[in-house]
Amino acid sequence: MPTSSPMTLCCLLWARPGLVADMNAYEDAVIALLPNHGATLVQRAYGDGGADHPHEVQLYSFPDQAALDGYLADPRRRELADERDRVIARTELFPATLPAPAAETHGGDVDIDWEAARAANRDNWDDRAALHEQAYGLEGFDDPDYLSDVIREDLPVLTSFLTDGSIAGLDVCHLQCHIGTDTVSLARAGASVTGVDFSRAALRTADRLAERAGASVRWVESDVLDARAAVEDDFDVVYTSIGTITWLNDLDRWAEQIYALLKPGGTFFIRDGHPALYALDENAPTLTTRYAYFGDGRAQQWDDDSTYAGDGTVAHARTYEWPHPLSEIIGSLLRAGLRLTHFDEGKTLPWRFSPRMVDVDGGFAWPEAERNLVPCTYTIVARRD
Ligand SMILES: C[S@@+](CC[C@H](N)C(=O)[O-])C[C@H]1O[C@@H](n2cnc3c(N)ncnc32)[C@H](O)[C@@H]1O
Repeated sequence: MPTSSPMTLCCLLWARPGLVADMNAYEDAVIALLPNHGATLVQRAYGDGGADHPHEVQLYSFPDQAALDGYLADPRRRELADERDRVIARTELFPATLPAPAAETHGGDVDIDWEAARAANRDNWDDRAALHEQAYGLEGFDDPDYLSDVIREDLPVLTSFLTDGSIAGLDVCHLQCHIGTDTVSLARAGASVTGVDFSRAALRTADRLAERAGASVRWVESDVLDARAAVEDDFDVVYTSIGTITWLNDLDRWAEQIYALLKPGGTFFIRDGHPALYALDENAPTLTTRYAYFGDGRAQQWDDDSTYAGDGTVAHARTYEWPHPLSEIIGSLLRAGLRLTHFDEGKTLPWRFSPRMVDVDGGFAWPEAERNLVPCTYTIVARRD
């Protein structure tokens, strides 16, 4: 029956004997036409063809019946009709239903007061600290030359903007320092470091790590948005990285803390997940936007009891994050009075954003064919003149 609502179809395909590869190639050609009709291939899988199993299974979505009719009538598809009859022995096509995305609980936009959101986030990060103490591989620090992978990557970039080309002897403030792996690494590189985080549990783990690593670090328990008032000193470098500002609702206030923490002539460094990456559906079979790139003040609410390191689960699964486009990130730093001295974008991440990401030197990345389609990280260096 004709319908004007979106339709999902499941297609089972059996090839004629010895023609499985030819059938797959024919399907490659017709699947390539789907986007011309507003349709998407949701999933494609290959069967063994044994015991009446299909050789191929496809699931695709059309915006409406007219789009499906347009695809079926596409002359480029019709031209291949003889090839279709040559290679395909049997087709079964039937309507299917995709599970509805749980919009309210998976990145859905919600109005929530900052204090309530922050309390939920802090409970979640307190839970994660214990899990990450087991899963971060802290025993690596028993080697006195060991530095975290993040600092190993960031240090050459950061130091290229420092007067002496080194952080040795400089006062460094590490915002959102978590369990201290990067903070201790900065201390090992010779800096005098203060780590700031709002999770007491994370800072206790960080302190144990510093002791184990023989590093001297000051830990300050504070919201990053109140960091200036909480930390006594002024700094040559303010550093923050990987998993930071999506936890904050107010970047102008964040940037004002950074400016005020820096000595005149001081340097700010951030490397983090790119907001264009965060707009993507991490579970989609292709690069597909799902979440807001531009924020509207509302938080994205997540219910997820897993964490990015190890298999453990947290008791406090609900968290809130805020999307921040590049214009807002850069704009907040400029409005606070900082001067941008470096901007870069990267194609690898130190954590697996999507199950489709592959292991590469330097972390994780999209499969090679997609690696140039979207940035994974951005890096900004800015200066307080
Ligand atoms: C993803 S971790 C940072 C990770 C760090 N790059 C690492 O791998 O160790 C995020 C950290 O931000 C902290 N955090 C989140 N919101 C915060 C806030 N409003 N003020 C201070 N710290 C906050 C959390 O406690 C957590 O330790």
